[in-house]
Amino acid sequence: MGKGEQSSLTAEREVKRLQKVRDDFFSIAAHEIRTPITVIKAQAQLAERFHAQGRLQGELVEKTLRVFVQESDRLARLCNDLLDTARIDSGCFEVYLSEFQVASAIEEAVARYRGRVERHQFVFEAARPEAGALVVRADRERTMHVLDNLLNNAIRFSPGGGEITVSLSVRRSKCSITVRDRGLGIPGDRLKGIFKRYYQAHQSGLKGPCGLGLGLYVCRESVRRMGGNIRVKSEGDGQGSEFTFTLPLAARATETFTGGITS
Ligand SMILES: Nc1ncnc2c1ncn2[C@@H]1O[C@H](COP(=O)(O)OP(=O)(O)O)[C@@H](O)[C@H]1O
Ligand SMILES: [Mg+2]
Repeated sequence: MGKGEQSSLTAEREVKRLQKVRDDFFSIAAHEIRTPITVIKAQAQLAERFHAQGRLQGELVEKTLRVFVQESDRLARLCNDLLDTARIDSGCFEVYLSEFQVASAIEEAVARYRGRVERHQFVFEAARPEAGALVVRADRERTMHVLDNLLNNAIRFSPGGGEITVSLSVRRSKCSITVRDRGLGIPGDRLKGIFKRYYQAHQSGLKGPCGLGLGLYVCRESVRRMGGNIRVKSEGDGQGSEFTFTLPLAARATETFTGGITS
């Protein structure tokens, strides 16, 4: 076989490989999207039946509403990750900076889960009381997405429950936010790839949704564009995980806190 023929064969194989990656991705994405829809429909049908019998009340109403909120959140998260990934690819991913109190964003992100999860407890630790008033210059909505993704992962990857701690500290002109769980942890050899798109360190053994492996990829892009960075620490199997991201302090906060609170 000549050189030309060989390289066209290699190109053909690469095209086939990429087609397979695309097809696999579509089928995983379709499955991930269909699952919450199926759950919502089943719950709606049950509620409809009970309503027809005049028995739709109390706990069942609560459960139905909880399922609707939880599953539509899951759908929204999937759509956001897909849209953000497409925006990153096409160079249209934007962040809009403004000044806001970071502690209130954390409280709001945690509040979305409080009362909705049974086995986990949330703890918020600020290095000093003044941290409550700390002002950052970042994109508030993107910051909420990052927190939501980290909290959602912390819950999903600690199926046995336990404490999830969010801590806030300051170093020089940046604030650091850490989300720590006591769950499955991440094996050392998988830590490096964790922020890559489609990367999933736990393939099986978990009940419930598997996700698309896009969340942390989008988180890293958001944090970088806001002028911070994100990193992960884990001692491995069963030792929990710790994700820390930084955000720049607003100029006036930097003056107030320089040399101030550190964890
Ligand atoms: N808190 C965590 N504990 C253990 N593993 C985690 C945690 N957060 C993320 N991971 C690992 O990193 C992978 C990528 O996370 P992410 O990008 O959010 O995608 P997804 O949540 O869709 O799987 C996860 O599939 C999981 O293997
Ligand atoms: Mg995720």
